[in-house]
Amino acid sequence: MPLDAPLIETLTATATEAAARAYAPYSRFQVGAALLFDDGAIVAGANVENASYGLSCCAERNALFRAISEQGPSRRIAAVAVFHDGAEACPPCGACLQVMSEFAIESCVVFFSHGSEFRSALFDELLPVRFNKAQLE
Ligand code: THU
Repeated sequence: MPLDAPLIETLTATATEAAARAYAPYSRFQVGAALLFDDGAIVAGANVENASYGLSCCAERNALFRAISEQGPSRRIAAVAVFHDGAEACPPCGACLQVMSEFAIESCVVFFSHGSEFRSALFDELLPVRFNKAQLE
């Protein structure tokens, strides 16, 4: 599945649309995420906050948990897109990178909004060293 320009456009547009469905009355920071899986499926998520602030969950993790709940854990993430309608860059937070890392392919690419554009980085660049199941053995 080539990660060509039309597919990147679909992925980033899906993340952009998902941000409109966020529930973020406390931070007023709406985020949308879209995950591209190795079977070509794209699954979106938005952040959902709670009055008990710490129970809020990011868009990326909501997308991943939705994807696994609906389709199981066997698929791998080939690319990620994250959108927030703001001037600053909006890469995934460290917690989401850690959670997604168990499912990301080695060459996974992350597209994240920065103003009106999307920047890209390798997943490995954003989280070069990670805790994984090897540490548990
Ligand atoms: N947020 C995300 O959804 N994704 C990120 O990668 C960073 C932060 C959410 C969490 C919270 O609801 C709001 O943005 C402000 O931090």
